[in-house]
Amino acid sequence: MVNSFASLSICHSSRVTIIGAGRVGSTLAQRIVESNLADVVLLDIVPGMPQGLALDLMEARGIESHNRRILGTNDYADTANSEIIIITAGFPRRPGMSRDDLLLTNAKIVVEAAKQAIAYSPNAIFLVVTNPLDVMTYLTWQATGIEKNRIMGMAGVLDSARFEAFIAMELGVVPTDVKAMVLGSHGDLMVPLSRYATVNGIPITELLDYSTIERLVQRTRNGGAEIVELMQTGGAFFAPASAACLMIESILMNQSRILPVAAYLQGEYGLNDIFIGVPTRLGCGGITSILELNLTATELQALHTSAESVRRTIQRAKDIILAGIGGDI
Ligand code: LAC
Repeated sequence: MVNSFASLSICHSSRVTIIGAGRVGSTLAQRIVESNLADVVLLDIVPGMPQGLALDLMEARGIESHNRRILGTNDYADTANSEIIIITAGFPRRPGMSRDDLLLTNAKIVVEAAKQAIAYSPNAIFLVVTNPLDVMTYLTWQATGIEKNRIMGMAGVLDSARFEAFIAMELGVVPTDVKAMVLGSHGDLMVPLSRYATVNGIPITELLDYSTIERLVQRTRNGGAEIVELMQTGGAFFAPASAACLMIESILMNQSRILPVAAYLQGEYGLNDIFIGVPTRLGCGGITSILELNLTATELQALHTSAESVRRTIQRAKDIILAGIGGDI
């Protein structure tokens, strides 16, 4: 493998667009500018809303000591020549809903957003955050027709962060000492890899018993729903925004970090024509490579079960779109 850590050049353009100025979108805008990563165009269909949020963020610039610009708009023309387009538009879950329950409403919104955005930024990298995540990433890919390395879904970084947080809380250690990787779909069938989870290099299997690890795995799978149940109005947005920001940083700063993202597979892990969470390297240009781990038969089976569920939902999405409900891809 080429060692891309050798080049740590910064990508040229520093303008990203966030479509959807809800809680994830607006928090992400804040993280990006306050991390001094890029200027941000924040787009939403609600008149005045992104403009108001952008002005609020502009007014905080002096206090936060950065000079990044934030433009709020309802017009896709303002997003022209963005380096990265992040799609967060769509409805969040309500208590009792699965991410798949959002399929019908969000498919139409995401396909429309993707088509509009690609028209103004034909060379952009697309990062999809809207749920059901793996399926919305597939629809965005079909709607834009871009190469597979330029499109990905954000989920694995978030799910891994949750697994790491629960391990850190259980052991009473700082979360930065914990590293974990969660593969598969962003849903109940996600695949937290306990075997790869460590605390400063020590496998968690040395530190926690089986039933404790299983409890943390289950809490990770239920991580989004746990917050939806607590909040009752909408879902998580701080950690989702942090996870998306980490991916954006790795791309814009060409860090080549190894991160789990929903990527298009063509034979890797025995899977084809599907977006699902696998370890990738993110740098300039998007996904610079997909890593194939030597999974055990049980882990591979779990990944395939997860993929079957995504595939069924993709088929339902295609049926909906063919029936004309979700518009033309
Ligand atoms: C969650 C949403 C972002 O997991 O899917 O909180």
